[in-house]
Amino acid sequence: MTQDELKQAVARAAIDYVVDGEIIGVGTGSTANFFIDELARIKDRIKGTVASSEATAARLRGHGIPVFDLNEVTSIAVYIDGADEITSGGAMIKGGGAALTREKIVASVSKKFVCIADGSKLVDVLGKFPLPIEVLPMARNAVMRRMAALGGQPKLRTKAGSDDAFITDNGGELVDVAGLQITDPAGFEMQINQIVGVVAVGLFAQRGADVCLLGTSEGVKKLEF
Ligand code: A5P
Repeated sequence: MTQDELKQAVARAAIDYVVDGEIIGVGTGSTANFFIDELARIKDRIKGTVASSEATAARLRGHGIPVFDLNEVTSIAVYIDGADEITSGGAMIKGGGAALTREKIVASVSKKFVCIADGSKLVDVLGKFPLPIEVLPMARNAVMRRMAALGGQPKLRTKAGSDDAFITDNGGELVDVAGLQITDPAGFEMQINQIVGVVAVGLFAQRGADVCLLGTSEGVKKLEF
């Protein structure tokens, strides 16, 4: 099976976690896009969605699926999103698609987090995938120095084919930190959150996944945490 077929398989399996009549939180990225396409088939069963990025909101609306502002809703039954890396304990690195801050906000208010990922995302130790951190632009260099002092190799994310900083949906910039071996994800998340100028770090450990649907050549495997 190709990686896309594995992503499609987990996206389809995630439909079982959609709660009828409720608001569904929807993530960002290629796997989440497959999920949105599956959700479109059963859109009449749900009240609507909260999107974790402008791109996701546009895709949902393109399918005629209602998208609510988070301030308009009081409860999200389930949040469904991909990951860049996930451990067997349910801690994740996310943000390769630049949406980590809104993903973290929506995940934090959702009753259940279902991660959908192809099998290549399962790792023993987080950190091979550079850790994304959203920063306020004026704090970019200060945060990069702090991350270097913590043993990482920080790099400002730039727009494709340009030296200009990539700007997130929130007007922030992204620092990607390579060379980390994150053995204590929850502790490291707390430590980075304390750096002034950090908007959000793409470590999802304090609020990790509750379930991971992992696409493998033997079928979709379910991990529960
Ligand atoms: C988006 O900001 C990310 O957190 C994505 O969930 C993550 O990068 C996984 O993306 P893919 O599904 O495209 O691999």
